[in-house]
Amino acid sequence: MDLVQLLYSLSTPVGTALVIAVGGLSLWFLKLFVDHQWKSNTKLPPLPKVPGLPLIGNLLQLKEKKPHKTFTKWAETYGPIYSIRTGSNTLVVLNSNDVVKEAMVTRFPAISTRKLSKAVKVLTSDKSIVAISDYNEFYKTTKRHVLTHLLGPIAQKRCRMHRDALIENTSDQLHAFSKNCPLEAINFRELFQLGLFGLAMKQTLGKDVDSVYVEELRATLSRQEMLECLVLDILVGAIDVDWRDFFPYLNWIPNRNFEKRIEQMDLRRMEVLKSLIQKTKIQSASKEECYLDYLESEGKMLSERQIRMLLWEVIIATSDTPVVATEWAIYELARDSKRQDRLYEEISRVCGSDKITEEKLHQLPYLYAIFQETIRVYSPIPIIPLRYVCEDTELGGYFVPSGSEIAINIYGCNHDKNVWENPEEWNPERFMEDKSETMDLHKSMAFGGGKRVCVGALEAMTISRMAIGRLIQEFEWRVTDDQVNDVDTVGLTSRKLHPMLALIKPRS
Ligand code: HEM
Repeated sequence: MDLVQLLYSLSTPVGTALVIAVGGLSLWFLKLFVDHQWKSNTKLPPLPKVPGLPLIGNLLQLKEKKPHKTFTKWAETYGPIYSIRTGSNTLVVLNSNDVVKEAMVTRFPAISTRKLSKAVKVLTSDKSIVAISDYNEFYKTTKRHVLTHLLGPIAQKRCRMHRDALIENTSDQLHAFSKNCPLEAINFRELFQLGLFGLAMKQTLGKDVDSVYVEELRATLSRQEMLECLVLDILVGAIDVDWRDFFPYLNWIPNRNFEKRIEQMDLRRMEVLKSLIQKTKIQSASKEECYLDYLESEGKMLSERQIRMLLWEVIIATSDTPVVATEWAIYELARDSKRQDRLYEEISRVCGSDKITEEKLHQLPYLYAIFQETIRVYSPIPIIPLRYVCEDTELGGYFVPSGSEIAINIYGCNHDKNVWENPEEWNPERFMEDKSETMDLHKSMAFGGGKRVCVGALEAMTISRMAIGRLIQEFEWRVTDDQVNDVDTVGLTSRKLHPMLALIKPRS
């Protein structure tokens, strides 16, 4: 075969496959060699490995798109820390509190960056948000901004009226629904999510906007459509898989469909944000002081795109995880009348006939236990966006080489049989034992830990407990019969696969 024939055959699909296979195999052998070198250079043992296939590693075993559950199952065989292969990448999976705390605190300097998938790189404008940024100056400055203006305790006091309005409106809508459709089941998520989205707009843009005209899309978008562009579509896009993420040596092969999908998502989101900012600025007379004003005055070093991304981060975080936690908590109570009664009695004892207020929250330990147990069982962020090991390090007594990725399996920690008895069971009473008085945020790992612990925990806990408390104070909840055992989840955050449909009856 001469060179031309060889080149021709390599340009056919079979030839391309051959190149991929040979290229992949050589890389695999190279990897084996490098593996061998580590072992001879360190006294620490290598990580336990979950067996997989040559080239693709463990990818086929992760097909079902619920990696947190597969990882937790593997931990029973391979221990709390092990490594897997996702194509040509090494992924170290952490599944217990001890090893996760070691990664988040002691070894943090070696694991403080992220390697992003192609989708997440575009959707975060290459790390232009606090949560995905590496630990650098941009991170430190923008985290200070978000804490000072929005999420720190003083800023949270300033946002109090917006939260009160959210809870009041939610209650009003439920009363209206139960009056107009007393026999119908309500989709609570739909209603609460739009309310949270409104709260996020007030906090970021100073105004809750009903609709917006977006020049570039030549369309007026309703609140629901804005929610889709800014929140729901992106949650789906962020877990979109480009197979080249697993085989970086194949980056030269185009994957236009994928790229177009993600780019359009990004473009729509940015245009909607631009129009929303313009609209609220024009109506500045009726707008309140907000995060946008703060970023524009304080963050002089920020570009327009960065400002949009920082606003968007708060919008998506506020509109998603609190609804995930609240829906699961109400769902559990709606299928467990005894615990629902117990919570109602606690609220009645503390609040009498007054509506529950934020001041009363610290007197309601059972409500707190319900929230904690819900985020333990359903872990709204089941796996923390992957971290990257930038220098050789040690975890759980094993050698972890630079270049590996780290998956912190929060769901796995929260379902660790060595820590939690019957971890699958939703049992808020486990948080009622004496220790619960300390209100320790880190009882479950749901909010992460160390330097990157969730900065929205205070807001999430307040909103979610106020919503659960008020909804149980005012209504009796019961899930429809087909929902009694409907605990499946979907997506980047652990949303309920099928929205809860519940029958509500106002308490007399
Ligand atoms: C139940 C609700 C929530 C849960 C379970 C949750 C969980 C988490 C977790 C596990 C992390 C750590 C990620 C890491 O280590 O890289 C995190 C970080 C973060 N969360 Fe939350 N979150 C919730 C609600 C919120 C809310 C409402 C906001 C904002 C409005 C928010 C904003 C953030 C931010 C900005 C970070 C990045 C912190 C940093 O990197 O320093 N979260 N969250």
